[in-house]
Amino acid sequence: MSKSILITGGAGFIGCHVIQLFVTNYPEYKIVNLDALTYAGNLENLKSVEGAQNYSFEKADIQEAEALDVIFAKHQITDVIHLAAESHVDRSISDPLAFVKTNVFGTVNLLNAAKKAWAGELDQHLFYHVSTDEVYGSLHDGGFFLETTAYDPQSPYSASKAASDHFVRAYANTYKMKIVVSNCSNNYGPNQFPEKLIPLCINNIKNMKQLPVYGKGENVRDWLFVKDHARAIDIVFHKGKAGETYNIGGFNEWKNIDIVRLLCQKMDEKLGREAGTSEKLITFVQDRAGHDHRYAIDASKIQKELGWEPSLQFDEGIDITIDWYLANEEWLDHVTSGAYQEYYKELYRTD
Ligand SMILES: NC(=O)c1ccc[n+]([C@@H]2O[C@H](COP(=O)([O-])OP(=O)(O)OC[C@H]3O[C@@H](n4cnc5c(N)ncnc54)[C@H](O)[C@@H]3O)[C@@H](O)[C@H]2O)c1
Repeated sequence: MSKSILITGGAGFIGCHVIQLFVTNYPEYKIVNLDALTYAGNLENLKSVEGAQNYSFEKADIQEAEALDVIFAKHQITDVIHLAAESHVDRSISDPLAFVKTNVFGTVNLLNAAKKAWAGELDQHLFYHVSTDEVYGSLHDGGFFLETTAYDPQSPYSASKAASDHFVRAYANTYKMKIVVSNCSNNYGPNQFPEKLIPLCINNIKNMKQLPVYGKGENVRDWLFVKDHARAIDIVFHKGKAGETYNIGGFNEWKNIDIVRLLCQKMDEKLGREAGTSEKLITFVQDRAGHDHRYAIDASKIQKELGWEPSLQFDEGIDITIDWYLANEEWLDHVTSGAYQEYYKELYRTD
C-alpha cells in the first residue's frame, strides 16, 4: 500500500528538512504538511517542494480535534510523523500553558484522530513522535542519556515534551497503537528561527549587535546538524522497531561560550573583519531560570541497530550554516521583520 504521511510542524526548522527529504526521496508517497504557522512556522522554508506533485499543505492547529479528523479523512492518512510543538525553553518559562496546549493537549488530539481514523487496523499504521533529549533532565560533568534513563524534565518545555512522550507510549500500551519515539539533542543548521543560540549569534554578529550569553556560558549541549536528524527520522520511520525509543545525537558536546567564540572567529574571517572584532560583542547576562547544566546523548542504539550515524563533522556543519545565513539575507530579514507571515497569504490568497 502506498503511504500518505501526515508530517506535523513541517513549516518549522526541523520539519522543513524532513518534508524536503521525504518529498524528494519518496515520490511514491503522498506527503501532507500540517502546520498552524505560528511565529516559528515559515512556508518560505519549503519553496523547493511547494510545487511537487506529492506534496500538500494544510494550515491547521493540532489543538482542533475536528480539523484533524477532516484532514485524516481527506488525505486517507496512513502514518504520522509528529514534530509540531512549541519548542523554545525561554518562551516556556514566560508562558507554560501555551506549551501544555500544543505539546500535551495537541499531541493527545493527534493520537485520538489517528486512533479514530485507523480503528480496527491500528497495527498497520505508524505514529512516530519526535521528541527531545531534554526530557531526561540535566547531567553533571559525566555520563550520558540512554533510552532507559528515567525522565526528569526540568523546564516547562521539557515537562510538556515528557508528558507528550508518556501519552504516546500509553496509547501503544492501552490501545495497541504502533508507535515509535525518538529523542534528539540540539539541532543546528539552515532555516532555524533566530531566537535559538546559533542563528541568533550569526544574525547579531552580522549586524554588530551584542551577543547575550546566559551566566558564564558554561552549559554544555550536544549538537547535531539538522539534515542528519532528518536522515535519522527517515531511518527510524522505515526501520525502527514498533514500540521502541531511539536516542539521536551528534557525539559532539560544546560549552555555549565555546560555540559563541567559534562563531565569532569564523565570521570575522568570512566577513573580512579584524580577528577579535566579534568577540567584543559577547555580553554575559543573568542566567536562565533553572538552566540545565549538561545534556549528552548516547546514540549507540540507533547506530548499532539501524546503522545511522552523523554524516558531518561540526566544523563542516557550522561552516555550511554560517554560509547559508549569509547567503539568505532575505530569509533572515523576512523572519526578523515578521514579513514571512505575508508569504502564506500571498501563496494561498487567504488569512
Ligand atoms: N530544535 C531542536 O534542537 C530540537 C531537538 C530535539 C527535538 N526537537 C523537537 O523537534 C520538533 C520540531 O522542533 P523545531 O526546532 O523544528 O521547532 P520549531 O519551533 O522550529 O517548529 C515548530 C513548528 O510547529 C508548528 N506548530 C506549533 N504549534 C502548533 C500547533 N498547535 N498546531 C500545528 N502546528 C504547530 C509551528 O508553526 C512550527 O512550524 C519539536 O517537537 C521539538 O520538540 C527539537
